Amino acid sequence: VTSGNIAYRGDQLAEYFAAARAQWHHLYPSERWIFERLAGAEQRLGRVLDVGCAAGGLASALLERFSVASYVGVDINRPVVELARRRLRGLPLPAVVWHGDILHMGALDGQPYDLVVSLSCADWNVETAAIIDACWSRVRPGGRLVISVRLTPGRGVNDYARSYQLIAADEARLDGCERANYVVFNGREFLRLVKGLGPAPDQVLGYGYWGRPSSTAVTPYERLVFAVFALRKAEAPGTEAACELHLPLSLLGAGAIG
Ligand SMILES: C[S@@+](CC[C@H](N)C(=O)[O-])C[C@H]1O[C@@H](n2cnc3c(N)ncnc32)[C@H](O)[C@@H]1O
Repeated sequence: VTSGNIAYRGDQLAEYFAAARAQWHHLYPSERWIFERLAGAEQRLGRVLDVGCAAGGLASALLERFSVASYVGVDINRPVVELARRRLRGLPLPAVVWHGDILHMGALDGQPYDLVVSLSCADWNVETAAIIDACWSRVRPGGRLVISVRLTPGRGVNDYARSYQLIAADEARLDGCERANYVVFNGREFLRLVKGLGPAPDQVLGYGYWGRPSSTAVTPYERLVFAVFALRKAEAPGTEAACELHLPLSLLGAGAIG
């Protein structure tokens, strides 16, 4: 296990997440689309592990719509973990939040999960591929990983000298704040990473659209495809994954990178 991740330490994340992303309508359309599809007619999501959970708002957002058997959150930033613990106490489900880097966590509560979530987490730190592997290893066979990524038809970037996001609770106070990595994948490169997961997924669902990078991001891209994927872990090896991708075709670009 590598250890190059940034340990975000400041209070700005807790300040921001105190009022953000705790209700269903706070989620992006891509996120809502994916969760609706996964929950299906039964509207059940099962046991959820939220990696990079921040203040744990996903638990209450999902509970507005679905039945959730239990919620475990993990975050590398201590102030958000403390906020999440206070908030989750009031929710009608078993919930626990751990502090630490997902690359260095043990088995968590032991059993693999029905649903593991990385929303703006794996691509917000340095060891993106290792974080994705760590998330995938905690999905039960037949369970899912929901992951958001930023995609481009051209070259991607994972270099936070060139592409980063300022961690600011409000845009008027950008001086001296911490920087998060702002990873962008070439679209095909991301699908190759998905195909190479072990064990391989047997179903890949994706939904995304073009948009502008966040106003607090400093990045070479003017626009990106913001996409959310749900990857189902195969129960038996050897099945080629069926893909259902609702992505702009222009993500394929004109040529060379393939
Ligand atoms: C952009 S925030 C997204 C929060 C939340 N998932 C959401 O979608 O609103 C990313 C969170 O991931 C956490 N994080 C980044 N790298 C992590 C790691 N290696 N292990 C655990 N948490 C991590 C950060 O501290 C931060 O709270």
